[in-house]
Amino acid sequence: MSPGGVLVGEITVPGDKSISHRAVLFGALAEGVTTVEGFLESEDCLATLRAMQAMGVSIERPGSGQVIVHGVGLRGLKAPQAALDMGNAGTAMRLSMGLLAGQSFDSTLIGDPSLSRRPMERAAAPLRLMGAQIVTTEGKPPVRVQGGTSLQGIDYALSVPSAQVKSAILIAGLYATGTTTVHERAITRDHTERMLRAFGVPVISGRGFVSLEGPARLSATPVQVPGDISSAAFFLVAATLAAQGTFKILNVGMNPTRIGVIEILRLMGADIRVERERLLGDEPVADLCVRAAPLNGIDIPAHLVPLAIDEFPVLFVAAACARGTTVVSGASELKVKESDRLQVMAEGLTALGIHAQASAEGMRIEGGVLRSGRVDSHGDHRIAMAFAVAALRAEGDIEIVDVANVATSFPSFAGLARGVGFGLHVIP
Ligand code: S3P
Repeated sequence: MSPGGVLVGEITVPGDKSISHRAVLFGALAEGVTTVEGFLESEDCLATLRAMQAMGVSIERPGSGQVIVHGVGLRGLKAPQAALDMGNAGTAMRLSMGLLAGQSFDSTLIGDPSLSRRPMERAAAPLRLMGAQIVTTEGKPPVRVQGGTSLQGIDYALSVPSAQVKSAILIAGLYATGTTTVHERAITRDHTERMLRAFGVPVISGRGFVSLEGPARLSATPVQVPGDISSAAFFLVAATLAAQGTFKILNVGMNPTRIGVIEILRLMGADIRVERERLLGDEPVADLCVRAAPLNGIDIPAHLVPLAIDEFPVLFVAAACARGTTVVSGASELKVKESDRLQVMAEGLTALGIHAQASAEGMRIEGGVLRSGRVDSHGDHRIAMAFAVAALRAEGDIEIVDVANVATSFPSFAGLARGVGFGLHVIP
């Protein structure tokens, strides 16, 4: 990355990763044909798509972002011939655990080295309470799921704020007898609840709980995927640091369980205007207009942490460029993402001359001047993109190593970023 630069123009970010996974998964379990528009064609979502194909689901991809899923119904999946490889995708693996628990056949889930280090007991344990037979490998992948067991609904309080665990339980609940209820202390993304309703499943939810009755039936429905606010976040921070005039990001998903990044940036002083708010299917979307603004360090309010959980790498870059100190706590979940995002971001920022200190459950960053340097993303897509944003404010070049995994969530990042002013060169 070359230093400096200004951001001009407007962009449309690709489809939401969480919603794309769910569209293919629920489309496969539905009766009828589901058409998906705006599907995120990234490695993570393709892992879910290939897993469904490996279990006998016919899926067409007629054009960019278009997917046609020929649903086989809740009981129509077939035993895969080999282990299902979920690559780097935690969502694909944990949601599939709930789905596979309800099948008549045995299956094995594997992943890449990063996914193979991530905790799976958080999903396996509640699924076992439902009657599932699941074995993890010292709590991690490979995960073996034995089929042919009957599942019962449970009433379960999440011990970690995780939409993936909530979703795994709800998906198993589709196959279970009786009521499945999940309680959550902190609000996590609700795409599963919204989409299941669109597929005709009566899902009841209220403050801190969600509930459904099994066995359920899904009927195919068209899905339109909004732009991913987690991908937009890199440009929200970039434009706040370096926009010339107004920079626009079009068609961004504005689900209230995902917009913590906007609230946090505004608390820091960002100038973000929300325009053309509308509904795209079951999800709210809007265009975001950003002007450059000076940022101040803040104590990030605890309730916003789960609502911005994927955006912390780039929020830490915003903090490094802010006046004063930014503190986040209650964020230990960041340690078990695609990398230990507290440690890896602290190391990277320190290498660029910023005082950043990771703790067991948070981070403290003193804003300052970013120097040139070399940072290691540790194969974490969001860390790589966050440091590309940092370069807009750095004194010299920033070299970011191990960036191939950007393709897991945002394959078009480099092209889009260069097109609006980033001095970014990818060295193969
Ligand atoms: C996701 C939930 C979050 C998030 C991940 C996608 C989802 O993970 O970090 O990128 O699609 O349900 P956790 O459930 O582990 O918090």
